[in-house]
Amino acid sequence: MALTDISWEEFHQLDPVAKSRHLNQDDGRPFHTLMTQQFDRKALDTLGDLATRIRFLAKTKEGMTFLSGLLPHRRAMLYFTQPSTRTFLSFCTACEILGMRMGTVRDTATSSERKGETQDDSVRTFSSYFDCVIMRTQVGGLAERMAWVLSNSERPVPIINAGSGKDQHPTQALLDVYTLQRSFEARGGIDGKTVVFVGDLLRGRTVRSLSALLTNYEGVRQVFIAPPELQVADDVLAILDARGVSYELGDDLEVVVPGADAIYMTRVQDEWDAEKGESAKIDIERYWFQEAYLEHLKPDAVIMHPLPRRHEIPHSIDNDPRAMYWRQMRNGMWIRAALIARIFGCDGEIDAYSEA
Ligand code: NCD
Repeated sequence: MALTDISWEEFHQLDPVAKSRHLNQDDGRPFHTLMTQQFDRKALDTLGDLATRIRFLAKTKEGMTFLSGLLPHRRAMLYFTQPSTRTFLSFCTACEILGMRMGTVRDTATSSERKGETQDDSVRTFSSYFDCVIMRTQVGGLAERMAWVLSNSERPVPIINAGSGKDQHPTQALLDVYTLQRSFEARGGIDGKTVVFVGDLLRGRTVRSLSALLTNYEGVRQVFIAPPELQVADDVLAILDARGVSYELGDDLEVVVPGADAIYMTRVQDEWDAEKGESAKIDIERYWFQEAYLEHLKPDAVIMHPLPRRHEIPHSIDNDPRAMYWRQMRNGMWIRAALIARIFGCDGEIDAYSEA
């Protein structure tokens, strides 16, 4: 079912699982990438394998030349009206790897939104010139709305959600899963592992997206460690309940460190404070990873962070082999290139070239 088969009101009222049925192409490839619920285990395995092929090809001039010949006829619009370093740059480099050309808007002050144009009209405009729109916005639900609008326009181009409000950041979750796949490759994969989320779990969209994506794996235990004011929201737990996933909520990081296979740190998302300075009143230091915890952390566990970090992880542990956040960030480039290759259907060419 495509987005053309359903009215905006009907679509808007669906839950994420039902919504996601309208987002993929008939062969299972994503068309719009809006939420993690549209990826199943098979899709995650396919994307991870493809990312690894791209990563290996990108090591040589010959491989890079091949990759950059795949999508020179496609143009991507990067519409990032909320601050971003990693997501923006990794999408730029992912597009470049595949030979795509790009346009960018990063500040509405330089666009006709300054003249009163709506974001809807801006995105519609991009679809006239570009073959896909990669967008980050602080307006929750906007990526979804634009996907519906474009699908029902005369130029239906895919939208990739690069972070929307507090709700979803699906490509971050894809790179997080790719990082976990790689980290646990020699230990039976992600199944059966314990993932501990720490920090601002209420407003962090990366946690929301990754928690749902991990339900594709068998026996993964999810542990949520946060101050009571920032503990994970009920709708995230409802997804876990519906999928029969075991989880725990707590507020003591130190005690859960020894049982963790992955610790996913996050910063306080104080840009969402209703009143300025509200988050500063929370005793957040208890949720910072201390250097001393390394001693109790399993030797093959990983520490992750979507970044940017503040004080949640001391710089002194950056060179510990379990500190995975820098490699995690680089994985974003590979998985985003893989996602774009899948959307535009050039993954078969990559597979064939890699196997030849
Ligand atoms: C995250 C985001 O934007 O949600 N950053 C990112 O994309 N790597 C996390 C954050 O800002 O804390």
